[in-house]
Amino acid sequence: MALLAPIILDNGTGYSKIGFAGNSDPSFVFPTAIATREQGATNTRGPAVPAKPGNLASKRGIEDLDFFIGDEAVANSKTYGLHYPIRHGLIDNWDHMERYWEQCIFKYLRAEPEDHYFLLTEPPLNPPENREMTAEIFFETFNIQGLYIAVQAVLALAASWTSKSAQARPGERTLTGTVIDSGDGVTHVIPVAEGYVIGSAIKHIPIAGRDISQFVLNLMRERGETTTIPPEDQLRVAGKVKEDYSYVCQDIVKEFRKYDEEPYKYFVRYDGEHSVTKRKYSVDVGYERFLAPEIFFNPEIYSSDFLTPLPEVVDGVIQQSPIDVRRGLYKNIVLSGGSTMFDHFGQRLKRDLKKLVDQRIEASEVSSKSAMRSTGVEVNVISHKRQRYAVWYGGALLASLPDFYSYCHTKAQYEEVGPSICRRYQIFGSATS
Ligand SMILES: Nc1ncnc2c1ncn2[C@@H]1O[C@H](COP(=O)(O)OP(=O)(O)OP(=O)(O)O)[C@@H](O)[C@H]1O
Ligand SMILES: [Mg+2]
Repeated sequence: MALLAPIILDNGTGYSKIGFAGNSDPSFVFPTAIATREQGATNTRGPAVPAKPGNLASKRGIEDLDFFIGDEAVANSKTYGLHYPIRHGLIDNWDHMERYWEQCIFKYLRAEPEDHYFLLTEPPLNPPENREMTAEIFFETFNIQGLYIAVQAVLALAASWTSKSAQARPGERTLTGTVIDSGDGVTHVIPVAEGYVIGSAIKHIPIAGRDISQFVLNLMRERGETTTIPPEDQLRVAGKVKEDYSYVCQDIVKEFRKYDEEPYKYFVRYDGEHSVTKRKYSVDVGYERFLAPEIFFNPEIYSSDFLTPLPEVVDGVIQQSPIDVRRGLYKNIVLSGGSTMFDHFGQRLKRDLKKLVDQRIEASEVSSKSAMRSTGVEVNVISHKRQRYAVWYGGALLASLPDFYSYCHTKAQYEEVGPSICRRYQIFGSATS
């Protein structure tokens, strides 16, 4: 039997990106949400009891098929219990996740898992037990051909090979760099050296897409713009405004002045429609256009708990990494995920970070009274057109290389050794490896 293209599943806290190797975009992107008829189901993201995986096949009765995933789950949340099986990037309810994957494969991708190899993604520092649980589900319930589990940050580095600067240097397909992955629930800054995550230096920032949407909503409320929007639609509208109109400015004071001097040029109108009654409404969108992503650079405008600007966090992560890889980490800072999509995000990050680096070099030169001038440190922030789904795309790219199969664990190996074989995977994809 001919092998079909490997299937790439990138399940995020907010959204799942699913599709086939070799494609440039996922076939489906929808919320990582499941709606079930279970007793005691709730609408909250509260902790769920983890169930043992691998029991799906035995209990596939009619009742068990009565659930929805993705947008359909959200749409049915009034009559079903809505659950989000992934929290902060980690699978939190294995029973829900197993059923979620089942519909991803059969109903959406319309694939027979027996015919495919699978590439799955995991957050940094995922416990090896989770890899085993995942392997158990995919080999025993879905009976797949082979499995590779890749760290999301490493895939994001591979995705950046499509950027213009990397295309210009095809020999340098490096898996060394600092990944800034900002999705819906959390922002990670992850240093990677030759495909290995430097776990001790990783930092998390508790600001991501959901917070930015909430902040936009707060700003619109303060200006009295939300009174015409039905309360249940407000957060969704704020999210849409953020995605469609926000950008990073280079100087807030100047930006405010521009808006005040020529409001007709910068204020825009957002037209919406009530999701149920279809009543139309429209709101003015103003300063939130540049203030929204500013919370990465001046977090005090939103939160009083977390106050370190993103460029400072990135600098700290690199400074905590081994000295011999620091240059490589500054030289290749790679963006990944929906919340890095604001226009000029990379430019601002580069400028602010370069300032920090230059200040430190200057200070150390003064204190050492050295006559030697430092050659400076190259700081590059890589933006590219596959950034939105970078993790998925990096997976689709690596899984399309002929070598991919030899890095997977196969069904035969799984049966011989058991789930523990999936605790470890060889690093794959670096031109230097
Ligand atoms: N053009 C855009 N500008 C700004 N934000 C955007 C844009 N497009 C999508 N987003 C935001 O990106 C977020 C989703 O990103 P992504 O799919 O990378 O997250 P995730 O993988 O589900 O979550 P996580 O990585 O935290 O587990 C949402 O908050 C969405 O509003
Ligand atoms: Mg993600």
